This record gives sequence, C-alpha cells and structure tokens, in this order.
Amino acid sequence: MSDKLIEVASLCKYFSVKEGLLNKKYIYAVDDLSFFINRGETLGMVGESGCGKSTLGRTLIRLYEPTSGRIVYDGQTIYDSGNIELIDDDGNKTYSKKQISEIMPFRRKMQIIFQDPSASLNDRMTVGEIIKEPLEIHNLYPGKKERNERVKELLHAVGLTAEHATRYPHEFSGGQQQRIGIARALAVEPGFIVCDEPISALDVSIQSQIINMLEDMQNDLGLTYLFIAHDISVVRHISNRIGVMYLGKLVELGKSNEISKNPLHPYTKTLLSSVPIPDPKKTRENKRIVLQGDIPNPISPPLGCRFHTRCPCVKQICKEQVPPLRELSNGHFAACHIL
Ligand SMILES: Nc1ncnc2c1ncn2[C@@H]1O[C@H](COP(=O)(O)OP(=O)(O)O)[C@@H](O)[C@H]1O
Ligand SMILES: [Mg+2]
Repeated sequence: MSDKLIEVASLCKYFSVKEGLLNKKYIYAVDDLSFFINRGETLGMVGESGCGKSTLGRTLIRLYEPTSGRIVYDGQTIYDSGNIELIDDDGNKTYSKKQISEIMPFRRKMQIIFQDPSASLNDRMTVGEIIKEPLEIHNLYPGKKERNERVKELLHAVGLTAEHATRYPHEFSGGQQQRIGIARALAVEPGFIVCDEPISALDVSIQSQIINMLEDMQNDLGLTYLFIAHDISVVRHISNRIGVMYLGKLVELGKSNEISKNPLHPYTKTLLSSVPIPDPKKTRENKRIVLQGDIPNPISPPLGCRFHTRCPCVKQICKEQVPPLRELSNGHFAACHIL
C-alpha cells in the first residue's frame, strides 16, 4: 500500500468565458499543478481569494471536469486526459459511459465540506433527509430502519441529537449548519475530504470547536484532508504540509513548520508577514511586507512568473520564463527564479 492517497500530475482547470460575440477566452483557474497527499495527512492550501483554491478542491474530487492532467486516488487513476478520446462541440473533453460508471465508487470516497453551510444545504429538506440523501445515491445502509439509525449515529458524531433530524436547516445556527454539512460528508464513509474554508463563514467563538471536531474525526476515522484557507494562520497548526497558491499556480509546498519558519518564495513571505506573532520583539523585527498593486486578472495572467508584477525581488528572467516548482531542500519545493 502506497503512502500516497492522492496524486495529481499537471492538473489544469480552465473556465471559458465569452468576450463579445465571437471571442472566447479562458480563466486559468488551476494551471499545471502537481503534488500528492499522504494517507491520513492534512495538506493545507492557502492563497488570496480568487487564486484557484476552490477550483482545485472541486476538480480534484471530480465535481468539476478537469481540463487536462491526471488524478490518482489510492493507486487507481480516476482521471487521465491522455486516455480521453471524446471531444464535444464546445471543445470540452468528455467521458465514455464506461468510464463514468467506474467513477461512482470514487465519488463516495471523496467528499467536500463547503465554505458557506447555509448555501450548501437544501432548505426544503429536513436535516434527516439531507444526511440520508448520499446514502440513497450510493445505496448504503439499505432499509429504512438502518438508514434512520445511521442518521442518528451521524448526528451524535457531530454533536447534534436525533431530534434535530426532523428540523430544517434555517432553524440552526451557522456552526450547527456546518455540523450538518460535515455529517452529510461523513455519511458515505469517505477516505478523503476537501475542507473548503469550512470555518471562514462562522463566528470566531465557534471556529475552534469545528476545527477540533474535524481533527478528532480525522484521528478516529483515518481521514485525509485537503484543508483550504485564505489565511495561513488558520491552517499552519492543523496541517502536516502547506501548499501556497498564486493565480492558479502552486508557488511553494513544504512541511508546515518549514513554511512557517523558513518561507522561501517572496509571496509566502508576504503572506506570513501579515500573521501576528505573540512575541512583540519579533513583530518589530519581522516588518510587514505590503504588496504593491492588485492581484492580476486570471484571464490574461502575467507572462513568466505570475507573481512578477508584485514581487519585491523581480528580475528580467521572471518576466520571461515560468519558474518550475523545484525541490530546494528535503521535501521543500518552491517555484522562483531567484532562489
Ligand atoms: N464555475 C466557474 N465559472 C467560471 N469561472 C470560475 C468558476 N469558478 C471559479 N471561477 C474563476 O476561477 C478563479 C479561481 O476561483 P476560485 O477557485 O473560486 O478561487 P478561490 O477559491 O481561491 O477564491 C477566479 O478567477 C474565479 O472567478
Ligand atoms: Mg474559494
């Protein structure tokens, strides 16, 4: 059994957008990403809003059809653009029926917890129906009694009670709604969960409860997480490793404490410089780096290194060549020409 649960090679997800009547352009939301996630690991993924984190999470579990690349789950290839033969009228690649039916078991194994619990729960369904739905789709726990028992068990697991099953999502607080979303994700016994900013819409006072619950569940059930956040301080304590994204690209990847203590990429340094440090002396030494300019448009991203328009260390080569992600020390990768 390999240590790697997820392997991603050259994964791309581009969205097409119409400009005027005839012009079609692409948003390079996820552009040529390669990495792996070990079994039982939490990989944190950070970067500013719009850099492609949610698109990556959704493409990885095949909620979005990838544009190209390869995704391997537990040693089995679940997407490989090299194998695709069908191209529809819009130029999108599609699967043959046979390949879609093979995807179903993996859909169950890979789940997602969304950022906004109120928007992700169907308000016309009771909590019980919401949690039961994936069991019906995947034909698990067949029989009314078994399914109701399973719902009860899941509600208890996330700190709710059996009585909550007959109520509707709007009757709950944000934190409770997120617990319902977590119960739904857990219902089908997944191995891998994309946690897409699961606490950023919640009150600060309950954020740590949800984080602690997710950590306990990971330990009890042996889950593997891709934990997405726009704020690096949210993920650095709970992640084994951290990836940093900028405009659809992975710019740095390494062990969590390595990234915190010894960030290499100029963009990671700016992200960390805005994280408050408890020791006031250190804060003064560690001056906050403020980036110049706005994040560029992902429809026509800068040539060369995408960060070059805002980088404090920019050189000529950065404007011309895309820097590859290179291993600079053991397990610590960065994509930067000046390193
Ligand atoms: N379904 C979609 N259709 C078209 N463009 C999208 C879609 N989802 C995301 N995008 C675009 O892709 C880019 C990355 O978005 P997203 O993955 O949501 O970033 P993040 O989660 O890091 O904030 C943005 O420019 C966004 O506007
Ligand atoms: Mg997002």
